[in-house]
Amino acid sequence: MLKKAPAENVVDEIYERRVNPQWVRLLDVLQMNVTYLQCSGTELVTSDSRRILDFISGYCVHNIGHNHPRLIAALKEELDRAGPAMLQSHVSDLAGELAERLCARAGGRLTKAFFASSGSEGIETVIKFARAHTGRSGLLYAADGFHGLTCGALSLMSNEFWKGGFGPFLPDTEAVPFGDIEALERKLAARPIAAFILEPIQGEAGIRLPPPDYLARAQALCRSHGTLLVLDEVQTGFYRTGPFLAAHHFGVEPDMIVLAKAISGGLIPCSAVLMSDAICNSVYSSLKRAFVHTTTFSENSLAMRAGLATLDILEDENLGARATAMGERLRLRLSERLGKYDMVADVRGLGLLNAIEFKTPSSYLLRIPFEAFGKIHPGMFGQVLVMRLFKDHGILSQICGNNFMTLKIAPPLVVTDEQIDAYIAAVEKVVDLVHTSTTFWSEALGIARRVLATV
Ligand SMILES: Cc1ncc(COP(=O)(O)O)c(C=O)c1O
Repeated sequence: MLKKAPAENVVDEIYERRVNPQWVRLLDVLQMNVTYLQCSGTELVTSDSRRILDFISGYCVHNIGHNHPRLIAALKEELDRAGPAMLQSHVSDLAGELAERLCARAGGRLTKAFFASSGSEGIETVIKFARAHTGRSGLLYAADGFHGLTCGALSLMSNEFWKGGFGPFLPDTEAVPFGDIEALERKLAARPIAAFILEPIQGEAGIRLPPPDYLARAQALCRSHGTLLVLDEVQTGFYRTGPFLAAHHFGVEPDMIVLAKAISGGLIPCSAVLMSDAICNSVYSSLKRAFVHTTTFSENSLAMRAGLATLDILEDENLGARATAMGERLRLRLSERLGKYDMVADVRGLGLLNAIEFKTPSSYLLRIPFEAFGKIHPGMFGQVLVMRLFKDHGILSQICGNNFMTLKIAPPLVVTDEQIDAYIAAVEKVVDLVHTSTTFWSEALGIARRVLATV
């Protein structure tokens, strides 16, 4: 079992008492409750001097790597400037500049920006703006997607795990299967719909790529029915998949997009909704409505400054091209090395948003323990993989939130060839253990027992 220093245990105790005891217990059970002292680039250093490679990036927050020195310098400079922050009574020069640069990179119809502090707030914004612009209330969303945990965002999600106990949700929202163009056509034809909201590549659903022409056909259908196409690029934006937006892979020009996570380099909360002039004008339609949709931390100067510095870093370091090249190499090598294993179903992704999907083993010997653990919790298998990668190989990773059989691979875009090699070697060893050793399964049983003992 993981041992923490006495001072670190005190930190845990206070957190348990005052914040969320179950979170501490979960990390303890998974043996991932370590103290991180220093994080830079892809590397995290723990209080017992272990070096951990970050292959999840805070779920696509740290595209430029942890604590990039240029971002820190920009933030220090902004603080030293002692300029207007949170004044709520001025025109922000930094917000204008950031909006200009985001719209220029996004292109198409996206010519105006609204800033907030989280992806969920961005989703709330697109719900309100789509309804205000179209005068319709109906919203369609892609099943199994993830859009955040506010009530509006949950109203666009089908997975009961996130929703249970928190309803009722917004009326007039309906799911369509991701990638099913006929289902979308039927729903759009049935009644007027304000917007179809989806991730271009579904992240938490298991890094699910759309069929090649799906988004372009969805856009054409939406246009013919007067429905807005809204893309949630919270995970996929900021060069994560190669181009600035995942939309750019598929040749679509959405009416609105939501950006968050990587926008401000991982140090200051920030999000943005980009939209057409027409949508913006529908909401801010008169002097009386000049601030009808806003939020206290919107356009705060540290977040805006962080956004500008992050764009500079992403572009000066050519991190989009790097994501494309590194991702191709990663997928190729993983496919070569893992192809022979019974439980590996697929290696897929775009740029540095990738996944390994596992499946129920066909071998009888493996199926018995696999099914037994699945009955305790469907995420048990994936979580033991994650734990093994962490404990034995110093790799921080996670399974997808709505697809427990899929291991997500999303390192910072500054990841090096050597770090990718270390990841591949580690995954191969753990996957081999799954197929050849009883230790993996007895460890899983140990976790299962600890989970059952703490519920
Ligand atoms: C695709 C997507 N949309 C929206 C959100 C919500 O963002 P936030 O957690 O900043 O509210 C997330 C969060 O993980 C996400 O992955």
